[in-house]
Amino acid sequence: MDKQNVLTGLPDAEAFRILAESPISMVLTDPHLEDNPIVYVNRAFERVTGYNASSAVGRNCRFLQGEDTDPEDVRRIKQAIEQQTETTVDIVNYRADGTQFLNRLLLTPIYDQDGQLRHFLGIQKRLTEHEAQNSVNVSQHAIRELKHRVKNHLAMIVSMIRLQSRAVPAADTVKSLARRVESLQLLYEELSDPSAGRRTGNVSLGAYISRLANTTAHLDGRAGIRVNVDVGDATCSSEIAAKIGLVVSEIITNAFQHAFEGRDEGLLNIHLDAPAEDRVVISVEDDGVGLPEGTEYPNMGSVGGRVVAALLGDLDAELDVTSGDKGTTIRLSIPIRTYDS
Ligand SMILES: Cc1cc2nc3c(=O)[nH]c(=O)nc-3n(C[C@H](O)[C@H](O)[C@H](O)COP(=O)(O)O)c2cc1C
Repeated sequence: MDKQNVLTGLPDAEAFRILAESPISMVLTDPHLEDNPIVYVNRAFERVTGYNASSAVGRNCRFLQGEDTDPEDVRRIKQAIEQQTETTVDIVNYRADGTQFLNRLLLTPIYDQDGQLRHFLGIQKRLTEHEAQNSVNVSQHAIRELKHRVKNHLAMIVSMIRLQSRAVPAADTVKSLARRVESLQLLYEELSDPSAGRRTGNVSLGAYISRLANTTAHLDGRAGIRVNVDVGDATCSSEIAAKIGLVVSEIITNAFQHAFEGRDEGLLNIHLDAPAEDRVVISVEDDGVGLPEGTEYPNMGSVGGRVVAALLGDLDAELDVTSGDKGTTIRLSIPIRTYDS
């Protein structure tokens, strides 16, 4: 800025032109009009949101919100407007083409020379993926989501307890329930690993199944029975991973209990393969005595069998069982997806 301008300041019209063209997105609203509508947006607002001025002016800014917008963020903005205070909120917004972005909204009241409220100014900044990951709001949101999921999983366990307590004596019930809770506990350990998609609630299924297989072998295994775990990489939502984990732990435990009857040695191979991004194939293969003649798998006469059948139905999984005097192979083909797909 030259000396002349420093002394006299910029003329209002010139200052306004500079703001209008600035790369910072801004809107002005008029709180004296019905529902505090937008009365001005600059070019950068049009670029950030994809809405042109003529379609934005006259509307309340909430049209930028959508399905995934956290009501708690909306409540904070509403409160700041009512109390006429400045606030900054990272809020999920939607562009005109329907794509989501995380908007760091800075909101401030603007007063005239008499101290009367004239407008609200909103400055929108579209956060980059990296900035979004570190947003406090986003982690609060992720925690709320996680709590919601934990609640769902607990409900699943409770329904299993009910199913089981009707069928078998107390000691066995407690043991198998402990194992199921354990499998979910391992899942949450995977979830709290930042490299495994903590923010989105997605889980590295390969790593989870590998830990689960080793833990189940440790808890329920027998000396002389070797366990081989060979897993590829696949990512899916914790919801799906929880069900897959319960099924796999059920199948492995069942193999330990029944496949090697009367034998001192044996081999259990657990294999996970992802032939496509949206499908995994898991096989549990033993070289044991094979299923008794005339036995179906899963055995609907046992609680474990009914649990497996119910979970496979939920997962929309295909089951293929081969059994003979060289052992049994249980092969599951399961569609998977992540929370963001
Ligand atoms: C100047 C100004 C700018 C705003 N900008 C945004 C925005 O970019 N994104 C958004 O989701 N909400 C924005 N809002 C908030 C909404 O307009 C509205 O106040 C909020 O949704 C709370 O009110 P409600 O509960 O009646 O919807 C802005 C509000 C004002 C006053």
